[in-house]
Amino acid sequence: MSAERTFLAIKPDGVQRGLVGEILGRFERKGFKLVALKQLIPSRELAEQHYGVHKERPFFRGLVDFITSGPVVAMVWEGEGVIASARKLIGSTKPLEAEPGTIRGDLAVNIGRNVIHGSDGHETASFEIGLWFDIAELNDWSLSDNAWRIE
Ligand code: RTP
Ligand code: MG
Repeated sequence: MSAERTFLAIKPDGVQRGLVGEILGRFERKGFKLVALKQLIPSRELAEQHYGVHKERPFFRGLVDFITSGPVVAMVWEGEGVIASARKLIGSTKPLEAEPGTIRGDLAVNIGRNVIHGSDGHETASFEIGLWFDIAELNDWSLSDNAWRIE
């Protein structure tokens, strides 16, 4: 399968606030395909690797504390252009600057509690999918109504 895939994770605030169904529904309704899904409380090691690019930033420790503080819903979604599209559906990092209609624009107010993570490019998507999932957890399957989505 060479179709584009991205890694998304509903952060502990999204899970605690009961937003899992609301968020999953947005990606389903858009027309992307869910190929992996699990809930886990990330280890510090996993969180530090995931946010490794921010290691030197002042907010790094707090970010790792937060992301390991409770269950995260980790997902892989597939579809043409899904990496950039998911970032658009998610909205700006600062929820107060995120457009209405986006997940952060509709459901969050604070940068440290912005509900969901999405890979920001092709390289990070492959890195993050490999970091959070085993190959065997990724399902190759076809949407039975694909002809009604893509001509
Ligand atoms: P994410 O990686 O979680 O999807 O968020 P993002 O791409 O929109 O933003 P990024 O720059 O990668 O930052 C990762 C997360 O770190 C927290 N952050 N806090 N206090 C701050 O100045 C600050 N800056 C970033 C946010 O929770 C952000 O989602
Ligand atoms: Mg990021």
